[in-house]
Formats: sequence, structure tokens, C-alpha cells
Amino acid sequence: MTTVAIIGAHGKIGRRLVRLLAQRGDKAIGVVRRTEQVGAIAELGGTGVLLDVESATVEELAEALTGADAVVFTAGAGAGSGPVRKRTVDYGGAVLAQAAASLAGVHRFVQVSGMGVDDPVDPGTGDWAAYVRAKSEADSRLRASELRWTILRPGALTDAPGSGRVRLAESTGPGSVSRDDVAALIAACLNEPASAGHQWEVRAGSTPVAQAVTEQSRTTGAAS
Ligand SMILES: NC(=O)c1ccc[n+]([C@@H]2O[C@H](COP(=O)([O-])OP(=O)(O)OC[C@H]3O[C@@H](n4cnc5c(N)ncnc54)[C@H](OP(=O)(O)O)[C@@H]3O)[C@@H](O)[C@H]2O)c1
Repeated sequence: MTTVAIIGAHGKIGRRLVRLLAQRGDKAIGVVRRTEQVGAIAELGGTGVLLDVESATVEELAEALTGADAVVFTAGAGAGSGPVRKRTVDYGGAVLAQAAASLAGVHRFVQVSGMGVDDPVDPGTGDWAAYVRAKSEADSRLRASELRWTILRPGALTDAPGSGRVRLAESTGPGSVSRDDVAALIAACLNEPASAGHQWEVRAGSTPVAQAVTEQSRTTGAAS
């Protein structure tokens, strides 16, 4: 049994991932920021831990992560949250999680980022600019860390039922992908040690998720 700590566990991807991990017999520790979300994580088969990544110290988060085999960061400030919270959650929360994972001795780290964040089309100056900058810089910090990272960069997320199939590559070209399939992809990466050191974009496609991870893990990774 693997123990996976999920930061952003009550999010739309996070909840799907907690359920998937519980179904396959892994232990999911869901880091959430509201009291009522702790019970929701338990109903999905995980264990909720109350912690806000905008106010927690690195030691507090490390304590929550201690004993886990892997950390997944899938938190985000969300639509309409404004540039300040893009910085404090999407960047600050991710960097705090990286530091806490190191402190806790949890070396495996899967980051949910976004497609095209290093080279956005017309980012402007508002929320979108703050978002892509936060994601890009958090990813850059993670790549430079000593953690065994995998960075997943989905296209536009949908709530359509998952197909179990994706297109996964360093660059996929634009497209959308269901949150079901992203959650399945995270779970597949956690099962494939060779996915460490890879940064992939993902959109809807025709390759079964586990096969896509195995095939892409054989390619030269971004860290290699
Ligand atoms: N939307 C897209 O098309 C798209 C595309 C590519 C990548 N992404 C990224 O994919 C990731 C997951 O997406 P999603 O749809 O699952 O997002 P989501 O439903 O908004 O989930 C994000 C979670 O982060 C939590 N969170 C926010 N601030 C926090 C804090 N200070 N401390 C702890 N947790 C906090 C939220 O808590 P609450 O539930 O309390 O709000 C929420 O549960 C995000 O990083 C997003 O940026 C999104």
C-alpha cells in the first residue's frame, strides 16, 4: 500500500484522485482548508487533514506529509480569485509544499500545472498573467529541486466522463481533457517510478492512460 498526500484534495481533481487511490487500496491523506472538507475526504475513502497553504508554516505542512510515499500538489486559487491569490496559492503553496516534502523526507512529488504556462499566448496583465507566471515559476522551482518530480500540464479541464485515454507528450498541441482522466493520469504516474524527471502536457487522446505513462517514461526526460 502506498500513502499519498494530496494538497488541494477537495478540489475537482483532488476528490477524483482520493477516490481512485482508495479504490485501488492506497492510502490518501487529503490536505484541505475547511473543517467541513475533512468529512468529505473521509466519505471518499481518504483521511482529511486541515491545513491552509497560504498560512501554514513549512514545519506544519511537513508534519502532515510525514510518512507519505508521495505528495501531489493539485491546489489552485481558482477562477476569479485575483492575481494576489494566484501568487499565494499557485506559486506560494506549491513552493511551500516542495519545501515541506523535502523536510518530511518525502521525495516523490507530482505537480498539476497547466498547458503552455511557460510561453502563454497574449498573457496580458491580469489574472491570467499572474496564473501562468505562478505555475511556470513553481514548476521551475520544482525542476531545480532534489525531489523526484513529475509535472503534468493539462489543457482546459472538463467535467466530462473520463475515457481512460489521453494524449501525453512534452508538447501535445492545444486541447481539453477531462478531470477524470487527469486524476487517472496522476494515479498512473504514482505507479510508475520512471515517470520522475518528466514534464508532460496532456489532452484528450487515444492512448490508454497507463500505456501513455509507460511509453512516455521511456523517452528522454526533462531532467535527463
Ligand atoms: N481549470 C482549468 O482548465 C485548468 C487547466 C489546467 C490546469 N489547471 C490546474 O489544475 C489544478 C486542479 O484543478 P481543479 O479543477 O481540481 O481545481 P479546484 O477544483 O479549484 O481545486 C483546487 C483546490 O485547491 C484548494 N485550495 C485553494 N486555496 C487553498 C489553500 N490556501 N490551502 C489549501 N487548499 C487550497 C481549493 O480549496 P476550496 O475547495 O476550499 O476552494 C480547492 O479544493 C489547479 O492547480 C488548476 O490551476 C486548471
